[in-house]
Amino acid sequence: MIKEASFFDQKSSLTDTSSLRAKRLFSLADHQKHHKRNQGGRPIKELIEKLERNHGLSKEEYIRLLSGLDGEARTLLAEKATVLRKRHYGNDIYIRGLIEFTSFCKNDCLYCGLRASNKNAQRYRLSKEEILDCCQQGHELGFRTFVLQGGEDPHYTDEILVDITKTIKKDFPDCAITLSLGERSRESLAALREAGADRYLLRHETANKKHYELLHPKGMSFEKRMQQLWDMKELGYQIGCGFMVGSPGQSTECLADDLVFVQRLKPHMVGIGPFIPHKDTPFRAEPQGDLDLTLALLGIIRLILPQALIPSTTALGTIDPWGREKGVLAGANVVMPNLSPVGVRKKYMLYDNKICTGEEAAECKHCLHGRMQRIGCGIAVSRGDPAGYRLEEAALAD
Ligand code: 5AD
Ligand code: FES
Repeated sequence: MIKEASFFDQKSSLTDTSSLRAKRLFSLADHQKHHKRNQGGRPIKELIEKLERNHGLSKEEYIRLLSGLDGEARTLLAEKATVLRKRHYGNDIYIRGLIEFTSFCKNDCLYCGLRASNKNAQRYRLSKEEILDCCQQGHELGFRTFVLQGGEDPHYTDEILVDITKTIKKDFPDCAITLSLGERSRESLAALREAGADRYLLRHETANKKHYELLHPKGMSFEKRMQQLWDMKELGYQIGCGFMVGSPGQSTECLADDLVFVQRLKPHMVGIGPFIPHKDTPFRAEPQGDLDLTLALLGIIRLILPQALIPSTTALGTIDPWGREKGVLAGANVVMPNLSPVGVRKKYMLYDNKICTGEEAAECKHCLHGRMQRIGCGIAVSRGDPAGYRLEEAALAD
């Protein structure tokens, strides 16, 4: 069943520029929800106001907030998040061209369809030329950021990746490069930064050590992953962390740990999306993450980091046909259309039923353009650096 509840919750965040069509997306059924009063409403409202004022709460306060979320609280979060998004970014939504260049992975994360022990996974690698073709096509479509994402594939040595990075920067000097390559040594990260990579995404997956160990095989280290995020920041990358919502074993306390971590790390980007089971993983029978909780977390993260770049993810679009629109109305301001060649898309299956695996890049961009327009937003043709980032850099140079 399609859950439309949160769309009603976020009705008031639609602007005068929104089309009637977007408004029609709100389900009538949600009127019921509107009338449901929040028993402990005052304290939750006060917590949200405190979060808005201080851009942070204590772990206990996050637990209280997350435990007390109801329709009213979610509406308030979305409203406040939208005010902040607009203050810093207007109605602009940034696009990142996602190039999934290898489906090989040496890791064995229990949730992921690309895990090494999944013998059913279809593996592929893109050559340098194929990657450059994706960039060329993306550039013509107005993309000014390319996200090179892949499993942890030892085939792509530093030498190969430095060469690819340098060539993209030379051929497309007006573009930013974002790397999303999982865990790499500090030396490797430094070499790639030196070669011109601007940003690095590494979802921390969970800021709770016990939970981390439940999601990952022995041999992967929680401390190592967290340390890499701090290292990336030190090396001058714009950094992104993130986590799945509703991953197996995730408690409210785990989510509170995630929020405290985001608050402490202050990344430039935060990527969150619902966990979605993959049929060939040990988590195949686990339930998927909750849409409303994901949307509320997007709002909370916007309140913690008003200037962050926050994607409305493909996973969100996979669990709900209007997921990406809802994500933006909840506080997100980035979408990541796929630029990978259509022939390989179905082979990059992190989770079941992933959307946009049959469409050409141009189609995806066009589709997202329309989707954003219908909720009163526009797609920006620019690198989409974080608001205030240039200032931050200038201050560092002083
Ligand atoms: N459901 C949702 N997201 C997933 N990811 C990996 N597997 C899944 C899944 N089953 C996310 C992880 C990873 C990112 C690339 O995709 O958070 O960091
Ligand atoms: Fe890919 Fe809609 S975004 S088809």
